[in-house]
Amino acid sequence: MQVMKHLFKSRGIDISGYSESFMMRAIKKRVGRTYSPDHPGYLKLLIHSEEETNQLLGTLSINVTEFFRDRGAFESFEKEAIRPLLESKAQNGALLRIWSAGCATGQETYTIAMCLAEEMKHLEPGKRPLASVLGTDISELALVKAESGIYKREEVKGIPEKLLNLYFVRKGHAYEAAPSLTKYVRFARENLLEKPGSKFFDAIVCRNVLIYFSRKMHEVVVQNLYESLRKDGYLMLGRTETLMGAPRSAYEVVDLENRILRKL
Ligand SMILES: C[S@@+](CC[C@H](N)C(=O)[O-])C[C@H]1O[C@@H](n2cnc3c(N)ncnc32)[C@H](O)[C@@H]1O
Repeated sequence: MQVMKHLFKSRGIDISGYSESFMMRAIKKRVGRTYSPDHPGYLKLLIHSEEETNQLLGTLSINVTEFFRDRGAFESFEKEAIRPLLESKAQNGALLRIWSAGCATGQETYTIAMCLAEEMKHLEPGKRPLASVLGTDISELALVKAESGIYKREEVKGIPEKLLNLYFVRKGHAYEAAPSLTKYVRFARENLLEKPGSKFFDAIVCRNVLIYFSRKMHEVVVQNLYESLRKDGYLMLGRTETLMGAPRSAYEVVDLENRILRKL
């Protein structure tokens, strides 16, 4: 199918595992929304428009996300990665840098920032290092929402009440990330299939992104993540994800269930 070929060629995303009826429903919806005359007309638009490609991926639910997705994974990441990193940064006064790669609408990035802010409290105020969490995604539409830091009531349900009260400000029926959280966070557009713009991250969280790539593209992303991480840095994947194409000697396992690895 042409749409599938386009997503594969332009984004390296392999949707051949999706059911045909599901895909056809998504395409039909986009044909209607874009007022395209027919399928070939829509295909023409899709091929020439990055934004329409993002919209279609959104309709296919490829940027579905939530706060504290797999709660235990973030508990482990906080304890196994953020805590030791903060302790060592507190000693040498260096900046702590975390990358949330494929962050969709930002919930993962703010989740990491909440874990970071909570861990900071264990350090004396004068010893707290500077820290930043960079959220990146290929979808500009998703990033606009991430940057706003505003989420609906039903979207914040994964945030423990105590953290919601501490790090979000209620605005009518919505919640906005407070400065105590946004001070750590920034967002940028980045394509994981291209050479990374930034290197030497202390930790990278790349969850539920690799699953969409074809084997070849998966390997490209795995290599890019490896190059972006500093030695001894941590990498967390989604619970069902594995690293294809990385040599066994590249990482040691810190937490197998939560896919937390450490670069050797
Ligand atoms: C299912 S979401 C995962 C969001 C979040 N990491 C989580 O686990 O909840 C996958 C995200 O990967 C992004 N993505 C897909 N291909 C990408 C690429 N080549 N470069 C960067 N981001 C990409 C999509 O736009 C989408 O927002």
